[in-house]
Amino acid sequence: MEKDDLLFYNEYEQFYLMAKDSEAFKHFCRKAFGEDFSQDGFSDVSQVERIIPFIPKDKKAHILDIGCGNGKLLGYLQKKTGAYIYGFDYSGNAIKTAKELYEKDSEFTQGCIGEVDYPVDKFDVITSMDTMYFAPDMSAFVDQIMKWLKKGGVFFTCYQEGDVMPKTADENTSVLAMILKDKKIDYDCIDITKESYDLLLRKREAALSLKEEFIKEGNEEWFEMLVAQTDYADKPFDEYKKEMARYIYTVRA
Ligand SMILES: C[S@@+](CC[C@H](N)C(=O)[O-])C[C@H]1O[C@@H](n2cnc3c(N)ncnc32)[C@H](O)[C@@H]1O
Repeated sequence: MEKDDLLFYNEYEQFYLMAKDSEAFKHFCRKAFGEDFSQDGFSDVSQVERIIPFIPKDKKAHILDIGCGNGKLLGYLQKKTGAYIYGFDYSGNAIKTAKELYEKDSEFTQGCIGEVDYPVDKFDVITSMDTMYFAPDMSAFVDQIMKWLKKGGVFFTCYQEGDVMPKTADENTSVLAMILKDKKIDYDCIDITKESYDLLLRKREAALSLKEEFIKEGNEEWFEMLVAQTDYADKPFDEYKKEMARYIYTVRA
């Protein structure tokens, strides 16, 4: 597939260059999300902490992060659990940084969803934080994920509706839920829409408080983009939840 045809490819290449160098952005991530994972989205530290109980502690676990960006989320999980970390992302800039940051017990691959492959029964935990939407064929990608998971392993995904994916009635009607049901794959789901709304307010507050820092770095455009991403914070929660939702799905293989 031609990279320029991929959704947001050029934007993410630029984003990960900025994320590497901008102290203001690192500061923003810590203020808004509780940790700097170079987030582009809604994965705050409380969501990431929910992955940890699924990671086996009695052995060196193998964890894969889909759309891993510059690997900081995986680095955090490795620090907490000592696991081997694997990640892939189509952004060459992101993968270059990941390889520089995390050399030990790690494997980072530049590649696209649907093209990158791993052996059968390879992983104890697979995470996808706001990345399922980029699969050209989500159903085929679910099959791949289930193939990569060890028996008893866990697939953990944070999934947003109202941005890339359409808002549906509830957690059981999302595109992902329908695919899982169709395949007779059991899942658990929690609705974290309110948490995600509260995070949006924190993101706006954090961005506004760092305006001068972004400007001093010559990163005013990124400041404007971060603020624009929080437009929904203008709405009260009751309005917000009619158009947006956020769920955490977990699937045990
Ligand atoms: C919304 S961001 C989420 C990043 C990170 N997981 C987080 O929670 O902040 C989507 C990520 O997926 C990557 N991505 C988007 N489309 C992709 C594709 N088709 N194949 C591989 N990676 C992709 C982007 O480079 C980006 O790192």
